[in-house]
Amino acid sequence: MLKLSVIGTGYLGATHAAAMSSLGFEVIGVDTDETKIAQLNLGKVPFFEPNLEELLTQELASGRLKFTTEVSDAADCDVHFICVGTPQLKDSLAADLSYVNASLHAVAKIAKAGSVIVGKSTVPVGTAERLSKELQAINNQVELAWNPEFLREGFAVEDTLRPNRLVVGVTSDHAENVLRQAYKPLLENNVPWIRADLPTAELVKVAANSFLATKISFINAMAEICEAAGGDVTVLAQAIGYDPRIGSRFLQAGIGFGGGCLPKDIRAFMARSEELGAKQSVEFLREIDSINLRARQRMIDLVRADIGNDLKGKKIAVLGAAFKPDSDDVRDSPALDIAAQIHASGALVMVHDPKAIIPARARHPELTYSESIEDVVNAADVILHLTEWKIYRELDPQLLKGLVKHPVIIDGRNALNRELWLKAGWKFRALGRSSAS
Ligand code: UGA
Repeated sequence: MLKLSVIGTGYLGATHAAAMSSLGFEVIGVDTDETKIAQLNLGKVPFFEPNLEELLTQELASGRLKFTTEVSDAADCDVHFICVGTPQLKDSLAADLSYVNASLHAVAKIAKAGSVIVGKSTVPVGTAERLSKELQAINNQVELAWNPEFLREGFAVEDTLRPNRLVVGVTSDHAENVLRQAYKPLLENNVPWIRADLPTAELVKVAANSFLATKISFINAMAEICEAAGGDVTVLAQAIGYDPRIGSRFLQAGIGFGGGCLPKDIRAFMARSEELGAKQSVEFLREIDSINLRARQRMIDLVRADIGNDLKGKKIAVLGAAFKPDSDDVRDSPALDIAAQIHASGALVMVHDPKAIIPARARHPELTYSESIEDVVNAADVILHLTEWKIYRELDPQLLKGLVKHPVIIDGRNALNRELWLKAGWKFRALGRSSAS
């Protein structure tokens, strides 16, 4: 049985380590953050991800899974998965590769002969070939492969154990065979296996995220047109989605995409394409990015259309801070960005989120937060529904009507039941649905 290491224990690495252990492998997770490692060794996941804490506890108890801050503890591993972050650089569109570079160099020094280092982080195309050369200079007994990860936050465990495909960028049969052994339990369930060269494997990941971002911005552009022409984007999305060539998923119009992946990945793709002399090929992503950011502005315009330009002294209730439901991640969260912009215009903004209040407060301490929906909506001039948590769909509009100052709700995610709110006497507004209500 192979022994595996996972370098970097954030969303991707912590999930990958626990999931690979559950497949029966001995796994050691490595991270430089001592607090994170101490927490993981106690079975505590430092972020919210459904089912992960249970899996982690189960795997620690099995004795197969351990976490350490010492990369040398991973010296006897056959496969080293690099799962560190590649955030956007502060002063450019490009990705910060310092964590990937540092991990590769650290592992290269301790890896045993015949082992394979496998990059899972999202990197600009060409990174793997460069790292491969650097690896050869430090340790020519070890190979580098690239195996992009497609997991979604909120479904991380499910997506890791039941991926819809496995893509491996390799330069030798040996590396492919080692990876086939590592994923054997998944391959037995007929998961499609795609062998590629290093640049193609890197590109698959950014191409997939660019496509998803494009789909969301496409429907948000249609929402703008619906607003101008008096149409309803939810009906339009449903109707075009029945065409199997289009498909109905990722056509939810609203305040757009955020998180730690889609926004920074399309920007890094533009930056890299320019370096490659192929700027024009992904120039459309610039428009995808602007449509996405415009959706946030349109939400604020809807607020102003309802309560007037002067937001000073108005109470705005915000439901949702996370970038999407079932996650406490607030990185580039459209919901939190909108809340902060409205606050900056002088309104009193009170924010509710079932899981993300602590990370949201760390990023935007100027906003007011409450764990009680009643507190948040109490005496509100308008309610904004910005992250589509299930509990918000279960709210009783009749009951809330007695708490607010004005019964006005703006659905930024097109996820609420409009008829229900209208029946209870609310003014209901939503992005891309200009039909009178
Ligand atoms: C995304 C991809 O979906 C994963 O396949 C990929 O592995 C991951 O990035 C990554 O690169 O690591 P994730 O960031 O977890 O996953 O979130 P998504 O489910 O893709 O949602 C992204 C954003 O788009 C969210 O803010 C969501 O609210 C928004 N969205 C999604 C819409 O506005 N409309 C939709 O129809 C779908």
